[in-house]
Amino acid sequence: MFIAVGTPSRRGDGHADLTYVHAAAREIARAIGKFTVVVTKSTVPVGIGDEVERIIREENPDAEFAVVSNPEFLREGAAIRDFKHPDRIVIGSTDMRARQVMGEVYRPLHLNAAPILYTDRRTAELTKYAANSFLAMKVAFINEIADLSEKVGANVQEIARGIGLDNRIGQKFLHAGPGFGGSCFPKDTLALIKTGQDNEAPLRIVETVVAVNDQRKRAMARKVANAFGGNLRGKTIAILGVTFKPNTDDMRDAPSIPLITALQDMGADIRIYDPVGMDQAKKVFENVTFCDSAYDCVRGSHAVTIVTEWEQFRASDLKEMASIMACPVIVDLRNIYAPEEVLRNGFLYSGVGRAQSVAY
Ligand SMILES: NC(=O)c1ccc[n+]([C@@H]2O[C@H](COP(=O)([O-])OP(=O)(O)OC[C@H]3O[C@@H](n4cnc5c(N)ncnc54)[C@H](O)[C@@H]3O)[C@@H](O)[C@H]2O)c1
Repeated sequence: MFIAVGTPSRRGDGHADLTYVHAAAREIARAIGKFTVVVTKSTVPVGIGDEVERIIREENPDAEFAVVSNPEFLREGAAIRDFKHPDRIVIGSTDMRARQVMGEVYRPLHLNAAPILYTDRRTAELTKYAANSFLAMKVAFINEIADLSEKVGANVQEIARGIGLDNRIGQKFLHAGPGFGGSCFPKDTLALIKTGQDNEAPLRIVETVVAVNDQRKRAMARKVANAFGGNLRGKTIAILGVTFKPNTDDMRDAPSIPLITALQDMGADIRIYDPVGMDQAKKVFENVTFCDSAYDCVRGSHAVTIVTEWEQFRASDLKEMASIMACPVIVDLRNIYAPEEVLRNGFLYSGVGRAQSVAY
């Protein structure tokens, strides 16, 4: 039996909220007959496998079972592909019967050459948080390099390539942008920080990653405001893309949320378009205009801000966009456009971490 319920941040303190995991464990306990492997696939803090085991034993003292940690590393938006072709499968259990069952479950994927890593349960639990926090750290790192690049006249995309081709570093998660968000990184970094503090092994690097990332969202709003001398009162800003990344409608902790709030605080009127996320966006945003297309969104706007790098935005007709805007300004928080091309089409342009692309 796999537990794959949500483990959001608990309101107020940032610990993982384990209500759903506990409830699932109780339900499972009642259903256990013969030897059963209970697999925690939800991302849970280290030691929660022990707690799931305790709950099941309490609810059903006769149950014969083993609790395994089997963290999931798939990416939202590419979930099925990633599930079928994982980089690795981590199975955390020292129970030999459970290991054998899990080996059978994953045999088809193992035949696709996915390595299976057998560990103890706590190691598997911590591996997941270490992986997500490391990736979040890469994002925060390249974002700070992007800021420095703007100041000193360098190009962060070329730096990312220059360092990413080093196999020890790797090319992934080195795209400068508005800061990470989404359903996993924010909650998992916070939960790991809490685990570190509780165990008197503070994770200062991860704490800094979270702080740097939090500050970045409002800094991105200032980037938009800079196009207008820092004053957005009476200006209409078109936001293209509000989901936390393309190919999902997920708005959980999306960077667009603090960005839009900050723009509104500065007095801007906001228009929004997202190819898939409009229904979710309507639950999140107030006092904004929801639009039917990218062109509808930019019409009459003083600036357009690219927040999510949906493929269709890359193919926008820039000439057409410039002709229907009140003022042709693009703030490209995902670097989806080539600065020369945008400038050629009559826009003022600001990207991220590319000094030559800041052309106000
Ligand atoms: N979203 C991702 O890309 C991703 C990637 C890797 C790991 N994870 C982890 O997987 C877990 C789930 O994430 P998610 O994004 O799918 O969350 P989610 O909130 O989208 O989905 C959780 C689902 O569990 C259901 N649920 C809750 N209690 C239940 C119960 N007692 N019985 C049956 N169903 C129940 C909910 O209705 C919901 O549909 C989290 O721990 C997350 O950290 C998510």
